[in-house]
Amino acid sequence: MYFQFIRHKDLTLDQLDEICKIKKQVWNYSIVQHKDWIKSNLKENDIHVLMKDQSYRNIAYLNLVDCKIILNNKERNVRGLGNVCTIQSGKGNGTVLMNFINRYLIENEDMGFLFCKKSLLNFYTRIGWKIVEQKYLLFPLFNSDQIFTLTFNFKNEKINFLEYSGKLF
Ligand SMILES: CC(C)(COP(=O)(O)OP(=O)(O)OC[C@H]1O[C@@H](n2cnc3c(N)ncnc32)[C@H](O)[C@@H]1OP(=O)(O)O)[C@@H](O)C(=O)NCCC(=O)NCCS
Repeated sequence: MYFQFIRHKDLTLDQLDEICKIKKQVWNYSIVQHKDWIKSNLKENDIHVLMKDQSYRNIAYLNLVDCKIILNNKERNVRGLGNVCTIQSGKGNGTVLMNFINRYLIENEDMGFLFCKKSLLNFYTRIGWKIVEQKYLLFPLFNSDQIFTLTFNFKNEKINFLEYSGKLF
């Protein structure tokens, strides 16, 4: 497998197109809608991660977005993981991508943060992500009842309170 990291500010139009083609296979929006979403939601220093097979074909994608959270009364920068997707589910590629990203987060001493639906909790917890109990969470800008929050590489930091006031990603 190959992994390509591209800063959003360096993304070419062809790369944007490639990413939207992967996302379109997973989320049923048009290429134009995917492009608009990326353009309006990613910031210059956010990172696109493409996973490629031996023939250099794109097989999985995610993005790493800079987020600020309040953790136990202190503001912290964390890496939000968004748009995690594989062109074919159930082939192990999502696990390979996530294990690679876990190592990246550890090497860069970054804390990881993501949202997912209930059906994906097993997928993420099996590779080391931890569920934050709802009672410790505050999301003033959206209703989080159906959304689970997971963290990675928060080390021994015990979460007593976590507030996130940004957008869903
Ligand atoms: C979620 C996703 C990235 C996982 O990638 P993947 O390549 O299918 O994952 P793997 O093949 O490594 O599967 C690992 C395990 O997760 C399970 N799993 C994968 N996708 C799942 C899903 N949508 N719901 C429930 N379980 C899922 C697999 O069944 C497998 O479990 P098993 O080994 O017990 O059978 C991929 O299925 C996908 O693109 N889904 C659609 C987009 C999406 O929902 N993204 C998540 C955003 S938070």
